[in-house]
Formats: sequence, C-alpha cells, structure tokens
Amino acid sequence: MEVEVPSPVSESVVHPWDPASWRNREAHQQPKYQSAEAVAEVEQQLASYPPLVFAEEARELRRQLAQVAEGKAFLLQGGDCAESFADFNANRIRDTFKVLLQMAVVLTFSGNLPVVKVARMAGQYAKPRSADLETVNGIELPSYRGDIINGIDFTAKARVPDPQRMITAYNQSAATLNLLRAFAQGGLADLHQVHAWNLSYLENNPQRDRYLQLAERLQDALEFMAVCGVNSDNTPALRETTLYTSHEALLLNYEQALTRSDSLTGKWYDCSAHMLWIGERTRQLDAAHVEFLAGVWNPIGVKVGPGMDTEELIRLIDRLNPNNEPGRLTLITRMGADTLGDKLPALVRAVEREGRSVVWSTDPMHGNTVKASSGYKTRNFDSILREIRDFFAVHRAEGSHPGGIHLEMTGQHVTECTGGAWGISETDLASCYRTQCDPRLNADQVLELAFCISEMLRDGRSS
Ligand code: PEP
Ligand code: CO
Repeated sequence: MEVEVPSPVSESVVHPWDPASWRNREAHQQPKYQSAEAVAEVEQQLASYPPLVFAEEARELRRQLAQVAEGKAFLLQGGDCAESFADFNANRIRDTFKVLLQMAVVLTFSGNLPVVKVARMAGQYAKPRSADLETVNGIELPSYRGDIINGIDFTAKARVPDPQRMITAYNQSAATLNLLRAFAQGGLADLHQVHAWNLSYLENNPQRDRYLQLAERLQDALEFMAVCGVNSDNTPALRETTLYTSHEALLLNYEQALTRSDSLTGKWYDCSAHMLWIGERTRQLDAAHVEFLAGVWNPIGVKVGPGMDTEELIRLIDRLNPNNEPGRLTLITRMGADTLGDKLPALVRAVEREGRSVVWSTDPMHGNTVKASSGYKTRNFDSILREIRDFFAVHRAEGSHPGGIHLEMTGQHVTECTGGAWGISETDLASCYRTQCDPRLNADQVLELAFCISEMLRDGRSS
C-alpha cells in the first residue's frame, strides 16, 4: 500500500546545504564586482584567516536567547546603522560600549531581568539600499552600500565595489572585537564603577538625577552583598560582562568565507559574528540570504516589516528553525509607530497558535524614518517610544513576551534623531549629523529610552 508522505517541514532537509549553496539562488542587494578573480582571491584569503568568534560562544548566546524566548531575560541589541572605516578609533568603540552597558544596567536593575547584550558592531559594514543609484545635482552614481563594498564619497571612483574592502572590514572587525572583549573583561564593566561611567556626558543630562539615584541604589545593593561576602574578587559576574556581536549578513561572499565547521560538533557556524540577521529587503523564502542562514547554527534574526503576512511568516520560521528550537530565531519587527497596532497582533497570534518558539524583538528605528525639511533623514524620539510602547502592549495583550529591542545608537553626542529631553529640533540636526547611513539615537536619548523601557518591564512584572 502506498503511504502518503507528509511534506517536509523545511526545504532545507530536502536539498543538501553547504556554505556555497546560496550561489544557486537569486542573491539580492549584492555588489557587481568588476573582476571575479579578484573576488575569489579575497575569499580565499579570508577563508584562511582565523575565525572572529568561537562556535561555543554562539551556542551560549543561543542558550541565553532561549531564556529571552521564555520571558526570563531581555535582549538589548544596538549600535551603528553602519560602521565606518574612517571613523575607527578606540573612543568611539568605548563610548558605544559604555552606553550599551549603561542601558543594560538600567534595564537589569529597574526591570529586574537579566539583559543579553548584543552589539551591532565589529562587522556592521554592509548596507542594503532601496535605490541602486543616487542622484546629486543632476549627477547619477551607484549608491553607497557600506564600507565593506564601496566608498561613501560621491565620486565615480569611490562608488566602484572593491573586494579588498572585505579584508579591511575583517581587520577592523577583529580589532573592534578585541577591544570590546578587553572592555567587557578587563575591569571597565565592573558594576562598582557604574558611578564613574560616562559621568562627564551625564553632567548636563536631563536624566542625570534619575541615573544617579539608580546608581546609588545599586551601590547600596553591592555594599549589602559585600557584607554578605559577595564581591568583585570572588564573583566574576560583578566585574565582567559578555557583549556579543552581530551584523546584517548581507554580503554573502564575506559571510561564506568566514563560515567554518566546528570541530566539537561538526556543524557550520558563520564565525564573522555571534549573531547574524537577514534584512527586510533580503528575506525572500527562496533566495540566497535565507538559504545561507538556514544552514549555519548561529542564533539568527530576521527583520519583519509591515508587508509580512502570517502564512509567509510561518513558512519563513519553519525554513530557518525547522526543529523549533528556542533561541535560534529572533523576529525583529520594524513596523512603524503608525502601523504596528494594525499589523503585529495577527502575526503574534499566528506564531502562538502554531506553537513556534521565537524571540520577539522590536526595531523602532526603520519604520519611523522621515525626511526633515532641511533634507536630513531623521527619526523622532516620540515615534520611536510609541512603537516600543505599542510593541509591549500588543505582546502583553496576546500573552507573548516582548523579548527585546534593536536600536541604531551611538555613544557620541550626535544630533540625528529629533526630540528627547533635550528637545532636538529639525534645525538642530545640522549641528552634529555624522551617520554613514541612518540617523542614530545619541547617548542622552538612549539613556532616556532605557528608563522608559525599564518602566514597561516593571509594569509587566506587576500585572
Ligand atoms: C538596518 O538594520 O540597518 C536595516 C537596513 O534594516 P531593515 O532591513 O529592517 O530595513
Ligand atoms: Co539602518
């Protein structure tokens, strides 16, 4: 008798995957290099270089994200929209590190949840673009696609994709990661130092008193623990932290070259970062980016914009996480403050109904980008906050966990997003607009947001 074979849960089980199998699919948003040989040479070179992260670290992040999926921890992911080769220095890395950690302390202490910290750093060099061409004063040139691909200067020469840039991206990622590891483990992250962190920038910060109050309460708690015998010398958790790295896995030549078979498990890991995500423009089910990330064992993310429908979402989840393993997949919704209330509930309901385990995170940046009358791309603090509030409200109403937040932010005093306690206006934008790509929250705005989110986390606990 013939038995009907159920259709496979995942396409990935019916065709062999290898790090190069994405090449048989349509790859969106890839550069058109002038010389295939030059690309192959760079790929070979990268493939011989040491991995940037170790597979066991990626597995540990997966375990921590499994806790987030269950509502037992909160994911904080943030950093530049695009890192730049030119603006590569220790102070910039340190300042973003400090703001991320400061935000994490506020969330951990006031929100009373462990915070999993993932930087959009040490590899965030490739940018998807809505248009292939950019026009300035009637001159048309290929768009800038991130420093790993071409140059930001508006000249024909700079805009030619250069494979050698992959080598520079690797080297700068390695140096960034090295410094982040030193900061995380070398004493800078000691909770006893929280008073000292960024105090100079806090001096004129409207949130200063709130922050100092929290720091004082934290100090009291640490003193109490010290009396009980728990201190930095005997408790590493008090003096060091773990900051994971992440970026959009966009340039697949680079990602493939850094993909390695783990000697402990025999599984493939993309060792360019701990976590990789697929962007909104490259998440087509049958295309190259989904094919590539389906086969690596890192924790991965996928951006989910307002155009996603429930059926497509479930198919995408099953393709990327066929065994429904908690911690493997983070859905990063980026709906826009005006759209989230309409779109998110149906998606959450479908995922709950189908019993799929995901981390729900909110990117309140990419759905709220507007053009100021001065021509600058910007985002307003209130829209960002409203999308976060609505994200929490929808998840609370549906009985799912608002698991995390994904921000474009910097430790610098930039003026790229409007609003916040300082009331940055559209006319202020010109005073310090530095981003390579999208507008980022500055250190003051990030800290203010952290206090708002910690209240949302607290409200969830008491309800
Ligand atoms: C980004 O995160 O920088 C980005 C391009 O986002 P999205 O894919 O959601 O547009
Ligand atoms: Co961006």
